[in-house]
Amino acid sequence: MATGWRPESLTDLQVADGEAYHQALYHGGDIELPAGWHKRSVEKLIDLSLPHIKEGALVVDYGSGTGGSAIELLKNLDERNVSVELVMIDPLVSWFAKAREIIGSREGVHFEISIQTDSSGKAKFRRLNDMLGGKKADVIISSSTLHLVPAKAISDLASQFADCLKPEGVLVWNSGDLDSDFRPINSALLHDPYRSVREILRNDEERRKALLKMGKNESDKSERRLDRIFPSPFPVEIILDAMSDAGFSTELSDRVVEFSSVDAERFVLVPRLAEIAAPLLAGEERDSAIRKALSISLARIAKQGKGNDGFYRSHWIYGLHSR
Ligand SMILES: C[S@@+](CC[C@H](N)C(=O)[O-])C[C@H]1O[C@@H](n2cnc3c(N)ncnc32)[C@H](O)[C@@H]1O
Repeated sequence: MATGWRPESLTDLQVADGEAYHQALYHGGDIELPAGWHKRSVEKLIDLSLPHIKEGALVVDYGSGTGGSAIELLKNLDERNVSVELVMIDPLVSWFAKAREIIGSREGVHFEISIQTDSSGKAKFRRLNDMLGGKKADVIISSSTLHLVPAKAISDLASQFADCLKPEGVLVWNSGDLDSDFRPINSALLHDPYRSVREILRNDEERRKALLKMGKNESDKSERRLDRIFPSPFPVEIILDAMSDAGFSTELSDRVVEFSSVDAERFVLVPRLAEIAAPLLAGEERDSAIRKALSISLARIAKQGKGNDGFYRSHWIYGLHSR
């Protein structure tokens, strides 16, 4: 049985949100049926990590979500008969609860929720060192998460990673949503289609009407929050410079991953992500507006030569850091 954080009294919406993201990664929720983009994007990260993971290693999955990266890692380790101590870390209760449901019955897995509210009620990220109880990791993986960390927080996070690794430990991450000068011109960033959905819906008449009813302060606040769901991409150099400042050396690689239009729709309709269309009402009103905007956005991307009517190409970067 896993240890650490467990969810308490989830709402039906939270349960549905975790389930929907899990099904965006695994067709029908079956962990033997990963979506093509998930399998292809995470397998390279696992391949880079495996040589560094020995029997009994302490492995951290920073930004575990519903468990997509950990599930693939554990499949590979099980095949090799290697058992590890795995620390799962994430701030989002709805998705993290799903991870706990899926792999919470395994021995050697530990869950840490990474956000807490301070005495003034303000949400704050916990320090990695505290979450690990001072233990040092052999390997930290971070799959599809670093582009969600605000650029101004990357430097501190890199120092925390460095501080929490054994001297011979490694950090391995991937991201499909970082700007770089080596992205092939026939590929897009992972979140380009969804940022474009957000832009298309920004001035949607029904949405504007609903925003007006909220009053200026509330609607401005809500719009700022929605803009953070698929944040503007920052350059990969922000991460590379931070890693170098933290004393890491870097090996960088990349891969282009096809993301099918069907998977893209399933992805953006995950309730937490479909909020980009709020305050349109959750459910059919929101979903149909998103579907319409997504088909426009994917057609534009195809026209730019970055996909076709069945998929778009997403560009993934992989960092392997040691000291
Ligand atoms: C796209 S999911 C990736 C989940 C999993 N690693 C996978 O590969 O399926 C990104 C995760 O990062 C978490 N996250 C978002 N913002 C974050 C931040 N600022 N710091 C740490 N984690 C964050 C989210 O809660 C989410 O679960």
